[in-house]
Amino acid sequence: MPLRVRLTLWYGTAMALFLAIFAVVLYTVMARSLKDQVDQSLEETATVAVRSLEQRGFLTLLDEEELLTQFPELARIDKFFQIFSPTGKITIRSPNIQRHDVPLSRTALEDAFTGKTTFESAKYPGEPPLRLVSVPILYRGSLVYIVQVGTSLESVEASLHRLLIMLLVTIPVALAVSLAGGWFLAGRALKPVDTITLAAQRIAAGDLTQRLTVPSSSDEIGRLAATFNDMIARLDASFRQIRQFSSDASHELRTPLTVMKGETELVLRRPRATEDYKMVLESNLEEIDRMSRIVEELLFLSRADLGEVKMERAPVRLEALVEDIQRQAGLLGQEHHVEVVLGTVQPATVLGDELRLRELLLNLVDNAVKYSKPGGKVEITLLREADEARLAIIDQGIGIAPAAQKLIFDRFYRTDEARAHTKKGTGLGLAICAWITEAHQGRIEVKSAIGEGSTFTVVLPLAPSAA
Ligand SMILES: Nc1ncnc2c1ncn2[C@@H]1O[C@H](COP(=O)(O)OP(=O)(O)O)[C@@H](O)[C@H]1O
Ligand SMILES: [Mg+2]
Repeated sequence: MPLRVRLTLWYGTAMALFLAIFAVVLYTVMARSLKDQVDQSLEETATVAVRSLEQRGFLTLLDEEELLTQFPELARIDKFFQIFSPTGKITIRSPNIQRHDVPLSRTALEDAFTGKTTFESAKYPGEPPLRLVSVPILYRGSLVYIVQVGTSLESVEASLHRLLIMLLVTIPVALAVSLAGGWFLAGRALKPVDTITLAAQRIAAGDLTQRLTVPSSSDEIGRLAATFNDMIARLDASFRQIRQFSSDASHELRTPLTVMKGETELVLRRPRATEDYKMVLESNLEEIDRMSRIVEELLFLSRADLGEVKMERAPVRLEALVEDIQRQAGLLGQEHHVEVVLGTVQPATVLGDELRLRELLLNLVDNAVKYSKPGGKVEITLLREADEARLAIIDQGIGIAPAAQKLIFDRFYRTDEARAHTKKGTGLGLAICAWITEAHQGRIEVKSAIGEGSTFTVVLPLAPSAA
């Protein structure tokens, strides 16, 4: 069942229940208070009559005409009265009671002997019901008369009947109107959901460029649409990334293969001197090295993506690591005529995986040396600041254009300057660095100016005890 129908039904049921309870309560309260009013007015009239009769000594009662002139309060058109003797016989009765006898009931008579006032209703066929009050008049403890005042409940019945009709007419109308309103409102409230569903269907069909028009409101629907758009944008980005990634990977692997194939074919075209074969094989080995580096790095990254790379969390003394790396990189630098030196090194211990941190530093120092100009200098510093260790690798190399600084951490991304500078490189090193830093709850910052050099700063949280 559609949500709209369900909502409307729920709403309608609640409304109907509410209206029904309202009607029942209203009717009951109304009926009760109308009858109370009648009883009260009957009793008042009876009390006045009894008091007057008592004042007069209620000796002999004359005929009704005399009675009425003496007790004008009894002469009321909407009420009749009767005076009974203790035997229950009518002594006097008002002229407005003509249609038939209204005898005193047994209960009223019995109550009268115990001095109690009786309220009762009487019903004669074809007539509106009567309401009667019977008040005993006692003289020196014995029952002298019973005064009964009665009235027709016709107007009360009529009022209640009118009320009933009104309720029976207005309640269905109110229910219908509110159901229509509920239907309309539910439709309005659910319309954006339909829109979202349609868009989701288009997106599910493969069009990830689709976005929802987000309502400007910050209500549930607005938030849903915004969240949905966010999700699609992320999916879109990661699908793009995956496609880009596989195309880049194939491209990067194809280049060395093409080189190897070309050289091998060329050298096989005719018999060559041993030296030539050796040269080609050496060149091939270089390409094979490069390819296995790419494959290894790719393997690491995909295992990292899958969460399969284990990370130790042990205290690592960065100052010792830095000195070690400097020694190692010093040799590397010599090949490129680049000097690798230590700047300020303050002791700092972080929690992490020493092997991964070493890999991270080696990658950065390797980049710094690789992208330096001959005769350049690479400086490594380690500073402790508040609860952070700041490891900086500073070079005076080719630098990175501002626009590229965000992209260099992407897989396979290499700047044109870098490609022109050296063929060595896979474009995967910094992606691995970024992953390792993140796994250590740290971050990498880059400051660079083209042609002037770059500074890569790795910021890592200090181990708690050392902080
Ligand atoms: N120290 C640096 N100086 C200039 N450019 C750099 C430096 N480090 C990294 N880059 C740029 O970032 C790119 C990505 O680096 P990386 O992922 O390590 O790849 P690779 O070292 O294989 O080229 C490099 O190709 C280069 O364009
Ligand atoms: Mg690198």
